[in-house]
Amino acid sequence: MKKVEAIIQPFKLEDAKDALKAIGVDGMTVTEVRGHGRQKGHKEVYRGQEYMVDLLPKVKLEMVVPDNRVEEVVKAVCEAARTGKIGDGKIFLYNIGEAIRIRNGDRGEAAL
Ligand SMILES: Nc1ncnc2c1ncn2[C@@H]1O[C@H](COP(=O)(O)OP(=O)(O)OP(=O)(O)O)[C@@H](O)[C@H]1O
Ligand SMILES: [Mg+2]
Repeated sequence: MKKVEAIIQPFKLEDAKDALKAIGVDGMTVTEVRGHGRQKGHKEVYRGQEYMVDLLPKVKLEMVVPDNRVEEVVKAVCEAARTGKIGDGKIFLYNIGEAIRIRNGDRGEAAL
């Protein structure tokens, strides 16, 4: 199992959720975050306004998926979240040691 952690532009959240739903990704965690990439200290545009601040609003999506689904999840998020401009975001992949469904003790991929 791997965790796909995608940090995307907030206005792309609905598109990303729709794309993930379309390929059958069920579980996810969504968090409002702030961050910057390599243009640190430079202006970026957010909802049509130019910001000079260094920490911009982003949304973090986390999905734990079976290894054999990682690439299609990455593709779905990239296609949904890409505008082609700076600040589109980034995806990080993590190895996951175990997953446990609290309700019934399911483990591994059965718990996803
Ligand atoms: N190396 C990193 N470590 C942790 N979080 C990061 C890293 N790079 C980017 N992020 C997160 O992703 C968000 C979007 O980054 P961003 O897309 O601007 O990356 P970038 O490397 O500057 O690429 P681009 O040149 O396309 O803007 C940041 O606001 C931050 O939350
Ligand atoms: Mg950037």
